[in-house]
Amino acid sequence: MPLVNMKKMLIDAVDGGYAVGAFNILDYNSMRAVIDCAKELNAPVIVQTSVKTVKLWGQKAMASWARELCDSCAVPVALHLDHCTDVDYVAQCIDHGWSSVMIDASAQSFETNLEWTTRVVGMAKPHNISVEAELGAIVGVEDDIFVQERDAHLADPDLSEQFCQAVDIDCFAPAIGTAHGIYKGEPVIAYDLIESITKRTRIPLALHGGTGLSDEVFKKCIALGCAKINISTQLKHVFIDSFVEYVRDHSTEYNPLKPLASQYDALKQNIAEKIILFGSAGKAGQEKM
Ligand code: 13P
Repeated sequence: MPLVNMKKMLIDAVDGGYAVGAFNILDYNSMRAVIDCAKELNAPVIVQTSVKTVKLWGQKAMASWARELCDSCAVPVALHLDHCTDVDYVAQCIDHGWSSVMIDASAQSFETNLEWTTRVVGMAKPHNISVEAELGAIVGVEDDIFVQERDAHLADPDLSEQFCQAVDIDCFAPAIGTAHGIYKGEPVIAYDLIESITKRTRIPLALHGGTGLSDEVFKKCIALGCAKINISTQLKHVFIDSFVEYVRDHSTEYNPLKPLASQYDALKQNIAEKIILFGSAGKAGQEKM
């Protein structure tokens, strides 16, 4: 099937009490691992692309990989642009066939964030493309965005409601205490804030900073309205470690296809564990029409 946007898959996830995994891919091998895994588990999935990764491979190439991999698959797959801080770059990805985009103007004032998000919604909606926006400041490093602990702040529930009433987004990413990268200690998740924002916005929430959260934390967040869960750092580690370990254990082989196959298998295994944990396995094809 063609790429789909993430609006319906996230509404279905909220209604069904599960979440859809959004996996940051790094190249064709990792994109293939995400989509093949979703196919095998009959799960809706979000192939998430960081801006730096898109700049490395080019928009045309990445969109064509996604289209080619999805043509032969029966599960819904969204190609989503993660944390883009540049409205013009979002426009280019829309032109190249991304089915979903995130405009991250969270470092701007509330008014500017709203203005940029409104511009992106205006560009995306006529093409049936879903939009995610962020409020508050999520600590850690994602792509070229670095938020230090002292600059991080949680989303304000009043402003969240005001924001989501003012602009027609499909997914809302409030800062709720999670962090991008590796957690240094036990994360303090503001569950009451998640609950209040869900009630007041009625928009599926994105949980950023999925790497390193416990199964229990994921389950609690899903029950409170987090319908999209982002996993990036974990896959970066698996991507490198699986390749390096294979080469280390077969140091005389020099057959590049073998470490790539080992990397693909390791990524798939990690992705499968998360899809099963989030409850989205078996949910493709069960979407409401
Ligand atoms: P992690 O790198 O912590 O998995 O976070 C991913 C993310 O939120 C991407 O936007």
